[in-house]
Amino acid sequence: MSKNYWRGRLNKGLKEDVAQFISSLSEDKRLVETDITVIAAHNLMLHKQGYLSMEDLVKILNGLVEIQAEWKSGRLDLNPSYVDIHPIIEKRIIELYGLEVGGKTHLAKSRNDQVMADIRIYTRNQLIEISKLLMDLINALITIAERNADTIMPGYTHAQHAQVTTYAHYLLSCADNFLRSLDGLCEAYVRVNLSPLGANALSGTSFKIDRTYTAKLLGFDGIVENTIDAVSSRDFAQEVTFWLATIMVTMSRIAENLVWWSTYEFNMVELADEFTDTSTAMPQKKNADSVELIRGKTGEVISSLMELLIMEKGLPIGYNKDLQETKFPLWRSIDTVKASTKILTNIFETLIINKERMKNITIMNDITAIDLAEFIVKKNGLSFREAHYLVGNIVKELIGEKKHLSDLTPDDVKKISKRELGREIALSERELRNATNPTLAIMSRISTGGPAPDEVQRMIEERKKKLMIIEE
Ligand code: ARG
Repeated sequence: MSKNYWRGRLNKGLKEDVAQFISSLSEDKRLVETDITVIAAHNLMLHKQGYLSMEDLVKILNGLVEIQAEWKSGRLDLNPSYVDIHPIIEKRIIELYGLEVGGKTHLAKSRNDQVMADIRIYTRNQLIEISKLLMDLINALITIAERNADTIMPGYTHAQHAQVTTYAHYLLSCADNFLRSLDGLCEAYVRVNLSPLGANALSGTSFKIDRTYTAKLLGFDGIVENTIDAVSSRDFAQEVTFWLATIMVTMSRIAENLVWWSTYEFNMVELADEFTDTSTAMPQKKNADSVELIRGKTGEVISSLMELLIMEKGLPIGYNKDLQETKFPLWRSIDTVKASTKILTNIFETLIINKERMKNITIMNDITAIDLAEFIVKKNGLSFREAHYLVGNIVKELIGEKKHLSDLTPDDVKKISKRELGREIALSERELRNATNPTLAIMSRISTGGPAPDEVQRMIEERKKKLMIIEE
């Protein structure tokens, strides 16, 4: 086609490097098939409203089928001088059926509402895919939790041993975090899945179009009503990217755990070989590259969210070309979250858990001090602060003697309590051993949301039900 019918106003064509600079063709590649569908829906509507004959409609639809085939077989010419995918498709219909027919497809439509329809449809489909992947991950965490309700491990605060917990309890905390992000994605979906089509460049059209009809054809749940808003807002992309960032942040924290827990020093878990790399210099190395990179790529998604917010903040209301840049951070975040979620699911499914080691470290470091204090409150009627003070002094004395709570005798308790509280606290040998036993400590932590196996099982059942509801 010799003429460029899009540049009637201009004498000269785009300079080649300018065309490359302003083109969105590289990002539009993901939108080709969606764009074809959007054009089809719009033209079906134009026909229904009496603006397009059946004969022309059939030609246009046939043309779109041909273009789809050309795209799939790599024959569609993505000439950068057309700047984005929309005129390329229109041009191709004109080539196939002449300006008379092809020139009708863009009536009551602009690239502004068209690209927004494309992005929203693509994003909606990706949200479904990501939600499924996230559910796979949550399911894996829950399944592994079910097998590890009695796998004792230290719970950390300030990276110091704090209270006893179980691997199951830890996994469920991660699952709950992901479940909130999943809720967020589902809520975002409601705001994503609205049709901007028919907004035209920003002020609608004088033709009697049916926006609800195209919305229905394209599977949207409704329309973005105000036509200026429809073409100028990108908050739906920001919201989606926010939830994607929360997923990455949770994964990054888990990655941080796994990196450290798989060290020689911790030795609590071991990654399957397929998820690790070695060193070209040090033959003994087994590096947790995959989890490190989940942590590393988190920055990419967080900065994508910033990019989207910054892009919009200085723009006057209405369409501005800057908005074309929406696609990069959105695509990047979607890709990174999908890849990371898949890999983390596989990592958990193949992770080797060193239960022995987890238990040994738990026992080694007086982590049941709080359990002893709680027992003394119950048994001897001390206030919690008195019991806390007493146990704090007991631990201090034991450390001085290079001993642990497991070495504590009833006489030690009597002596220290007399000295520190002016009152003798009597505990039997058996009571002392039970109160500081991590397995019993876990059994006793029955408060809502705690690590007691029954409570963990209750939480697992609830999460399973929730996942089933979301799946439906
Ligand atoms: N490639 C553009 C984008 O992605 C399509 C809309 C162009 N609109 C315009 N008025 N130049 O945003």
